[in-house]
Amino acid sequence: MNTRKAVALAVAALIILGGGAALKAAFSLRDQPLPFSHKKHVGMGIACESCHIGVTSQDRATIPETQVCALCHGRGKDGPKTPPKLAAYIKENKPIPWKTVYRLPGHVHFSHMRHVAVGGLGCRSCHGDMARMEEPLSDQPVPLKMTRCLSCHWKEKVSTDCLSCHR
Ligand code: HEC
Ligand code: HEC
Ligand code: HEC
Ligand code: HEC
Ligand code: HEC
Repeated sequence: MNTRKAVALAVAALIILGGGAALKAAFSLRDQPLPFSHKKHVGMGIACESCHIGVTSQDRATIPETQVCALCHGRGKDGPKTPPKLAAYIKENKPIPWKTVYRLPGHVHFSHMRHVAVGGLGCRSCHGDMARMEEPLSDQPVPLKMTRCLSCHWKEKVSTDCLSCHR
């Protein structure tokens, strides 16, 4: 059997076995280096801003460095269950190559500090319910397009001048 036929068969089997959900589960990790569950970690009471440390003080929220994971997962037998791949990143102190899914083109200015710390907006108004995610994102659940920025600015009476975002 050639590869193309094998792939077609596998996809057909997935569709029969549970449709979209199974397909999503099978392919959601495609571009991400590790499984990571927001649900599990946020459920332990770790605040969003403990990992995304830039979110109230700078433009970028940032993805946590390997050392943050090491606080718990670098404690060996005394620490929580740790997949070998994560243990290796920690041991070699290498950055985990997460693929970020929220990325605006370079001609758009965006500041987390402005929206979160000054504007008082919750993460949910732009990123949806991240606390329920059991796998890393592979795409934006609700795309952050210009129309979405504009409709909130309109509603909140914030500038919709082209140059306030495009500079
Ligand atoms: C008003 C909309 C908005 C709000 C509110 C918001 N974000 Fe974002 N977020 C964005 C946009 C837009 C990007 C892409 C930014 C870019 O490419 O410059 C982004 C990117 C990110 C990223 C990717 C990494 C990075 O450094 O850019 C993370 C992580 C993130 N946001 C976390 C959060 C968290 C946590 C909160 C709440 C404390 C939050 N965001 C609130 C719009 C928002
Ligand atoms: C405050 C401590 C803490 C921090 C910080 C932390 N974790 Fe965890 N992590 C845990 C605990 C506790 C579990 C649950 C282990 C279990 O189910 O037995 C876990 C589970 C996991 C699992 C699933 C293991 C499994 O097979 O169930 C992965 C993967 C993981 N963490 C990755 C990370 C990554 C990546 C980071 C850094 C961005 C991180 N963790 C930061 C405490 C932490
Ligand atoms: C233990 C650390 C940790 C905590 C706590 C945490 N995150 Fe994350 N977050 C990560 C890691 C690691 C990634 C990259 C992998 C992924 O996409 O799941 C990430 C990715 C994201 C992204 C996608 C960024 C992109 O562009 O790919 C958003 C949005 C986000 N987090 C928001 C939140 C929000 C909102 C909360 C609180 C409800 C939160 N995070 C709590 C570690 C954390
Ligand atoms: C859910 C509502 C909401 C969304 C969505 C939103 N914004 Fe905003 N934005 C605000 C609020 C509120 C402020 C004013 C904060 C303050 O009080 O300074 C603001 C302020 C700004 C400013 C500063 C404006 C000025 O007058 O200098 C820029 C730039 C900006 N937003 C860009 C964006 C971009 C780009 C997006 C889409 C990726 C976006 N915003 C999405 C609510 C939103
Ligand atoms: C509140 C922020 C905001 C304002 C105000 C705004 N834009 Fe945008 N614009 C964005 C974002 C975010 C993107 C990138 C996402 C997308 O393509 O929808 C974008 C993308 C674009 C693009 C597409 C560029 C490409 O790469 O394809 C054009 C053209 C554009 N804007 C023109 C304008 C014009 C003209 C105005 C004024 C009438 C304006 N924008 C006002 C946020 C804004």
